[in-house]
Amino acid sequence: MLYSEKVMDHFTNPRNVGEIPDADGVGEVGNAKCGDIMKMYIKVQNGVLTDVKFKTFGCGAAVATSSMATELIKGKPIEEALQLTNKAVVEALDGLPAVKLHCSVLAEQAIKAALSDYYRRQGIDPGPLVGEV
Ligand code: FES
Ligand code: FES
Repeated sequence: MLYSEKVMDHFTNPRNVGEIPDADGVGEVGNAKCGDIMKMYIKVQNGVLTDVKFKTFGCGAAVATSSMATELIKGKPIEEALQLTNKAVVEALDGLPAVKLHCSVLAEQAIKAALSDYYRRQGIDPGPLVGEV
């Protein structure tokens, strides 16, 4: 089996799909390798990510990794969300085929872009901490 059960589960039943109209931060990134795009919306209250939603024009692995990534950061403090790596997301999904690893980068970058946008709206310079593409 190419994909783990968890990947199949998050692909067929993705969590947190959609948008947040009054989001506190929005991040959109594109994958240079395949051209797929991802948009991430976050809601922040007292430094905690109270809500996270995503929309993607991307492949199944991008859907599954984004779904898992939103689950991993929802309800967590910003500092913790910033620590989330694509590697951790892939591990939480019990792995991805090597050729699909680049897909997991999209979720991490979209989260960082959304947090970056959040900081900017607060008048804070996000700095190089949060890399965007
Ligand atoms: Fe076609 Fe991702 S590039 S499915
Ligand atoms: Fe483009 Fe997966 S093939 S994100």
